[in-house]
This record gives sequence, C-alpha cells and structure tokens, in this order.
Amino acid sequence: MSLKSVPRPADADLEARPREGAGRPRARRRAPGQERAVRPTTVVPTGVERRFGEDEVIVTKTDLQGRLTYANDVFLRVSAYPEEAMLGQPHSMIRHPEMPRCVFRLLWDTLREGRELFAYVINLAGDGAHYWVLAHVTPSRGADGTVIGYHSNRRLPSASALAEIRPLYARLLQEEARHARPADAIAASTRLLEAELAERGLDYDRFLWSLAGSARTAPAARAALGSAA
Ligand SMILES: Cc1cc2nc3c(=O)[nH]c(=O)nc-3n(C[C@H](O)[C@H](O)[C@H](O)COP(=O)(O)O)c2cc1C
Repeated sequence: MSLKSVPRPADADLEARPREGAGRPRARRRAPGQERAVRPTTVVPTGVERRFGEDEVIVTKTDLQGRLTYANDVFLRVSAYPEEAMLGQPHSMIRHPEMPRCVFRLLWDTLREGRELFAYVINLAGDGAHYWVLAHVTPSRGADGTVIGYHSNRRLPSASALAEIRPLYARLLQEEARHARPADAIAASTRLLEAELAERGLDYDRFLWSLAGSARTAPAARAALGSAA
C-alpha cells in the first residue's frame, strides 16, 4: 500500500483568511480528513484505559464527510456518550491527542480511493478514558456502486500488537511535534512511517498483519473483524 500523500485543495482548511473586499476574517471550510490546527474536543484525557470484550465489535457508520450516522451500543458504552450526542457529529469527536495525524491521512486517502484500511487507533471517551481498537474501515456503496458513506468495525487489539504500536505512534507524534504546520507534520511523519516499514521490509498491510498474528491471513482476519463492506 502506498503511503504517498494526496495533495489537498489549498483552500480546505480552518485558517481564518481575509476575504477580498471584506472587513473581517472568515473561517474556511475544511474537507473531511483535512487536518485541523485545533483539536475539536475539550475532553481532557485522564490516562484511564478502558477495555471491552474480546467478543464485542464496536461499529459506527458515517456519511461522506465523516459525520456519524450510526453507532452501536458497544460504541456508545465504551465511548461514554449518549447516542443523541454523537449522531451527526464528526468522528473526530473521539480523536485522542496521541493518534498521529499521518494515520488519519492514510485512512482518508485510502477510503477516497474506494479501498478498505485496517488501523490501530486510540480513542478518547467522553469521560476522558481511552481505548485502543483494531479498526477495519471500508467505503459503503449504494445500489449503483457509488460510495455513499463509510463503515468501521473495531475489535480489541492484542497486547503484543500494542506493544509495537504504542512506541511507533509515539515516534510519529514526536516527529509531528517538530513541525508547526499540520501539512508539514503529516509529510514528515508519513516519511518516518515509510522508513520504519522499509526497515522491516514490509508494506503497511503486511506490517499490520504481522502484528495481528502471522498465522492469520488478511481475509481470515477480516472475517474475524466482521465484514464492514
Ligand atoms: C468510518 C470512519 C471511522 C472513523 N473512526 C475514527 C475513530 O474511531 N477515531 C478517530 O479519532 N477518528 C476516526 N475517524 C477519522 C476521523 O474522521 C478524523 O479524520 C480523525 O479523527 C482526525 O480528525 P482531525 O483531522 O480533525 O484531527 C473515522 C473516519 C471514518 C470515515
């Protein structure tokens, strides 16, 4: 899988820019997956880790902008939000500050190409607790084959996978922190991720499956996660 960044439209950000002929700055619209300079949630992480059952699946669906259209009971319980607080909100509601931006860039680039992605994600619950997931995110298609939204199924990740992912994400975050502009931060951490994968002689998919367990093939693991197509 390629990790190359797809250039974004220059006007799709939240920076306030003076409008020609207008007296005051105006917030520009941000494309989904376009990284913002400010975190969208004010929830403060408590450092408390929340787990969920090995037999449970956390499910959400979104529209094309990444706004929640469906959340199952497991998601609502683990994320500590009532359904009415979540539906219609951007998925970044549960973004944890320890998630590297480059992983979300990879997620959105992959979805926009009509492909699925597996990713380890740490999420921030409404009460400040955090929880790790192995997510399988796919485009959802309508009867005519066009993409009408996105779907994510998440399972509890193994301790051995997290033992590798936590320090990797910490290195990516550290790299991102060296850059003031989000775009520079993503470019730099994407290069670092590519370098780390190259060192291991793996592409992103193979790396993920090496963590999930070498005996599991991608289709078998996909079945274990539950098809999100
Ligand atoms: C189907 C789907 C599921 C997503 N699940 C999560 C999630 O569990 N946690 C998360 O932080 N972002 C998730 N995202 C990505 C968010 O849309 C967003 O890109 C991310 O939180 C980064 O937000 P930011 O760019 O505003 O920082 C998901 C996106 C889609 C389309």
